[in-house]
Amino acid sequence: MNQVTKAVFPVAGLGTRFLPATKANPKEMLPIVDKPLIQYAAEEAIAAGIDELIFVTGRNKRSIEDHFDKAYELEVQLEADGKKDLLGMVQNVLPNSASCVYIRQAEALGLGHAVLCAKQVVGNDPFAVILADDLISAAPGALKQMVDLYIRHQSSVIGVQTIPREATRSYGIVKGIPAGDRLYKVESIVEKPAPEKAPSTLAVVGRYILTPRIFGLLESVQPGAGGEIQLTDGIAALLSHEQVLAYEFSGKRYDCGNKFGYLQATVEYALAHPELKDQFLIYLKGLKL
Ligand code: UTP
Repeated sequence: MNQVTKAVFPVAGLGTRFLPATKANPKEMLPIVDKPLIQYAAEEAIAAGIDELIFVTGRNKRSIEDHFDKAYELEVQLEADGKKDLLGMVQNVLPNSASCVYIRQAEALGLGHAVLCAKQVVGNDPFAVILADDLISAAPGALKQMVDLYIRHQSSVIGVQTIPREATRSYGIVKGIPAGDRLYKVESIVEKPAPEKAPSTLAVVGRYILTPRIFGLLESVQPGAGGEIQLTDGIAALLSHEQVLAYEFSGKRYDCGNKFGYLQATVEYALAHPELKDQFLIYLKGLKL
């Protein structure tokens, strides 16, 4: 039995690193070639056996709801034009078995606060959190790898990756004891430490499977790094109640919340895209750099 059937997608951040593109549009709708980041994230969740998608949205996020909704006029037009492939693509953005719930985070008070907004909908079940701006190319998908671990160990699992020490200020950093192949038992976790203070170079990236106990703990988390209510601080509190595992998933992650990572993803996904790869490679090789 798959015990993790719900995923929370916090999409209420302000996306300031991508202004002005994110002034009226969420960064999660930025496309990598021809698909928005949020759709890659939803597909990864579905491939992990998740069928309830919970989006924590803010202002300017209506396009996410529209993206996963029926596009009536577009479908009528594509049908009339006999464009069957495109019609199928538009109709099958999500399988019929998946359901979507939208919750508003009235103010962007931080990722921990965004996750807390999903408390009533998640209820007393374990759940995944996916940050769509961390795009992960992996087979099987990163979340599927983590759900398998959850099923085996019945404890929270956070996705981590080794980063250069000078980058610790951009991440939650984990101190862990090796507990298996790519697996660590988390001893402590701290948000955005200075390189000289970081307990390791194992950085949390945007994939989590959490037990519902996190909600009660998030309720008493005070604003931390950057004045935000941090999910990392909730996980730090969880450690005094139950085991938390960190897993160095296999796969390549692109930080699409910043422009350079976004460009890397765009180039590499274009070079793997069936319609574009040959033409794009010739174009790149022809650039006089
Ligand atoms: P980021 O740290 O990337 O912040 O949030 P941001 O506001 O989206 O982007 P920048 O730093 O200003 O460019 C990590 C994730 O948490 C969500 C974001 O949407 C993103 O998926 N988030 C963050 C919320 O949903 N609510 C918040 O209050 C903060």
